[in-house]
Amino acid sequence: MTMIDSPQLTFTRDELLSSHDYAKPHVVAGRTLHGGLLADGSYHPPRALGRVHALDAWEAALRQRGGEPFPASATLLSGARMPNTEQQIVLLRNGITDVFWNMLTVIGKIEARGAFIALVPVPDLQAEIVDDISQMAIGHLAGGLLEAHGIDEGGIPDQGIGGHDQMWFAARDLAFGPDAHDDVEPQPGLAREDDTRYLPEVSAEVEQFLSFIANVLIIEFRAEIGFRETQTVLRTPGLFGERSDDALVAADIVGRIRTDEEIHVRSLNQYLGEFSSVTFRTLDGGTIPGAELIDRFWGGMVEWATVTKPARDAVTARSTMQTRIQRHPDAARVLQEFDAAVD
Ligand SMILES: [Fe+2]
Ligand SMILES: [Fe+2]
Repeated sequence: MTMIDSPQLTFTRDELLSSHDYAKPHVVAGRTLHGGLLADGSYHPPRALGRVHALDAWEAALRQRGGEPFPASATLLSGARMPNTEQQIVLLRNGITDVFWNMLTVIGKIEARGAFIALVPVPDLQAEIVDDISQMAIGHLAGGLLEAHGIDEGGIPDQGIGGHDQMWFAARDLAFGPDAHDDVEPQPGLAREDDTRYLPEVSAEVEQFLSFIANVLIIEFRAEIGFRETQTVLRTPGLFGERSDDALVAADIVGRIRTDEEIHVRSLNQYLGEFSSVTFRTLDGGTIPGAELIDRFWGGMVEWATVTKPARDAVTARSTMQTRIQRHPDAARVLQEFDAAVD
């Protein structure tokens, strides 16, 4: 009898955290960063060696069972952004550089907070799910996947290795020089505050965890839009004076962050795809398809992230920007240019 080799679907923590063999340390603007370049000059994200191999295998297995990674993409792209790329360029051309500086600082600090993802308690999902999840990504969340994700965001400060937080600060310092402006802290309110129980059939713990995964997916996915726009600004000629070559390097660093984030979005789509494909046990002793649980709250989260929140943020941002532009010697003209560039 011939045996067909079945693909590996269970992975150890060490395998999931394993990295490529980089040719040299990844040092930019004096900061040691995660990930690195291979001998051929190509960038590879940190902890991507085993993780990407595992995601390939889990995705293939999910598709073989008739499921698919959660198709989040199309619904998450809309929503106004303020300031948008053109408005950011108007500000920089007129010498108002602190707005873009602040944005880069704030993104770095929000990334640093993402380190909490490594520490999120994972409920005993197998106890809540009828299907055997030991050969799925969702069976590995506490076994290295969320740990890898959190470290990607916040780095390993003990070892002096910067994650996305330090990568943004490196990009910022390349474009403007270190200490060009004051430090700044993020505003609260990235995720929706909502205590409604949308999934009363399952425990609050499970609902919170599913909601956490979906929230991180939405935040990661929408962040990507801003990262792409940031690269466009950094690559726009004439905005960074004598630092224009460094600004191009900064754009490349943002490109590396985007490459890292692709693994996050892909992972989260895989988790939600798997959760949608399995059957959950209900508190009353019955069962419910995972797809029914996910679909019930997903629409509301998307509505909030792509319509409600952007509209609210745009009003606040317009007022903050107006106040900032008033300090410009030619404020009326700059404000007019700024408003003309609105989406
Ligand atoms: Fe990140
Ligand atoms: Fe991320």
